[in-house]
Amino acid sequence: MRAPWTRRRRLLPGLLALACLATVAVAAAVPLSTPSARAADPVLVLDATFEDGTTQGFRPRADETVAVSSAVAHGGTRSLLTSCRSASWQGPAIDLLDEMVEGTRYTLTVWVRLAAGESPGQVRLSVQRDSGGTSAYDQVVGDTAVTADTWVRLSGTYVLAHDVDGVSAYVETAGGTADLHIDDFTMAYQPTKPVQTDIPALREVLAADFPIGAAIGNRQIIGDQAVLLRRHFDTVTPGNALKWDATQPTEGAFRWADADTQVGFAADNGLAVRGHTLVWHQQTPAWVFTDTDGTPLTSDPADKALLLSRLEAHIRAVVGRYGDAIGVWDVANEVIDENQSDGLRRSRWYEISGLDYLRTAFRVAREVAPTAKLYINDYNTNVPAKRDKLRDLVTRLRAEGVPIDGVGHQMHVNVQWPAIAETEAMLQAFIPLGVEQQVTEMDVSIYVADNESFPTPPADRLLTQAYRYRDLFALYRRYADELTSVTLWGLADDDTWLDTFPVARKDAPLLFDTELQAKSAYWGIVDPTRIDPTPTPTASPTVSPTVSPTASPTATPTTGLDTCRATYTVTNQWPGGFQASLRITNTGVSAHDGWTVRWRFPDGQLISQLWNGTVRQDGPEVTVTPTSWNSALPAGGTVEFGFLAGWKTSNNRPVGFTLDGLTCTTG
Ligand code: XIL
Repeated sequence: MRAPWTRRRRLLPGLLALACLATVAVAAAVPLSTPSARAADPVLVLDATFEDGTTQGFRPRADETVAVSSAVAHGGTRSLLTSCRSASWQGPAIDLLDEMVEGTRYTLTVWVRLAAGESPGQVRLSVQRDSGGTSAYDQVVGDTAVTADTWVRLSGTYVLAHDVDGVSAYVETAGGTADLHIDDFTMAYQPTKPVQTDIPALREVLAADFPIGAAIGNRQIIGDQAVLLRRHFDTVTPGNALKWDATQPTEGAFRWADADTQVGFAADNGLAVRGHTLVWHQQTPAWVFTDTDGTPLTSDPADKALLLSRLEAHIRAVVGRYGDAIGVWDVANEVIDENQSDGLRRSRWYEISGLDYLRTAFRVAREVAPTAKLYINDYNTNVPAKRDKLRDLVTRLRAEGVPIDGVGHQMHVNVQWPAIAETEAMLQAFIPLGVEQQVTEMDVSIYVADNESFPTPPADRLLTQAYRYRDLFALYRRYADELTSVTLWGLADDDTWLDTFPVARKDAPLLFDTELQAKSAYWGIVDPTRIDPTPTPTASPTVSPTVSPTASPTATPTTGLDTCRATYTVTNQWPGGFQASLRITNTGVSAHDGWTVRWRFPDGQLISQLWNGTVRQDGPEVTVTPTSWNSALPAGGTVEFGFLAGWKTSNNRPVGFTLDGLTCTTG
């Protein structure tokens, strides 16, 4: 396998239609600097103003016309006009293969305006990647309103994370073929700091305890990220590349490019691989659960057999392809729903096949990879109800002979939650079963409520986070005999799934910052005496939460905030009505005896009956207070109530859960 960071030669540009050739000037955009020049300020790589009267390397994508115009200009007296477009994807493009370095984050900016007389429309900025005769298209800036009257600025960042033989940026319209002007196109990058070589390698610090891993994508195996990854980690988990939607998006048409690249990188660099994941209710294409004519599969025997045969074929192909290169598989992911009395998530897998999808998945994985360790993986496994349901399921399946070797604890946690004692109870709960355990997806969000959002991570949250990493890793190390690896869900804060989950905001949950430098969180694991205990708070949140965002940095970090968690579940729904339950967990340090819980319905839902509490509803606002026997809510305690309600056109989840005025996290 060719090393992923080598680049192929650029292809010769295709022939342009003759009608347009005459107007295309061929002078190149002015290369101002090369990405190897390291400076503190952003480095401008390309700057096309069209003031020299040439198209500065811009060309049409097909047979449209691209020419310098002086009809309008954003700066100076000239812009670039694209006309005679015959499709919305046609527009001005610039080749970037010689300027763009894989793994560097570039900011692309361009000003756009429709030509005089055109009706308002929408434009976007994209990148085309070409590799081995196929092209892929990445949006840099999505559809943006534009008119013929003013200039609109499109600006976004882009990281080339694939091996390519062609790459270009272009402007297109969402629809129609309006003539359009562009001007003042720039491409710049912010130099990153060098990877630190004077700090201990995490994997050496933890060598006596367990292998340490990170989730990766293509970006983490090139450039500085790859250097950081190799330096500190023993194992990797492809974060998306082995999931069903990545490997078999349509039936029988497997795609291996990303998985091969990432597993190949691991093999070349002596990193072990966790395979994630074979059966899950998310990131599984719709075809898996539908008939060839598009009808949803049911639980009747023929449909069930079809589903299980698809599952078997998928596992044979995916596990078979990587053989010994993948020593651990998350065979099943997130199958527990502790709100069901039997503890089993009502996924399409379950609805169609009951527990047989799990029996099939583990059996086939064992057959294809007899020496691989087979895991069942889940989140919130520290929550006692969920933990116990998972333990019961594993016990039951293993008693039947289903080859489950290990339990994976995802450990997507935050600076406040969960308590160390609860996490310890989680590890203890599985010891009697005789299974292996791994921490599989750890990250520590700086947020404790969905409505918080910090422009940059506040210093006190980062400090609290460092203590959380310290305390959780101290616990893991005490249980090193049980834990066969610990994996973090990402390498550095520049690339974390928590930037979009559960809401879009910048999070900083990992050990290295956005510039790949070791955070206090890293020192929490490596040498807690090097955590700086007196940082200055740096920012206030953009949304004011009810909890204090700037708790005193000297407060005991794991207990500095008082919060709650709301777990809302629709247990049954029918036209016009539904039944739901709400569990409130007091994740803070003080008791909430005589509690008041509030939330808001977004779609006009109306409660008709509620049990285990007293309800008052005022339009969308709902208030629940205790009955005589469940008014105590100690720290770490839960209350749960259920209700029947009506709904009209939609039944979206309630928002704004509070406990005595404190904003609760959801989940
Ligand atoms: C996440 C990936 O990191 C994201 O890139 C993707 O968009 C969604 O899935 N639990 C899991 C992981 O088991 O597969 C999820 O990964 C995070 C939660």
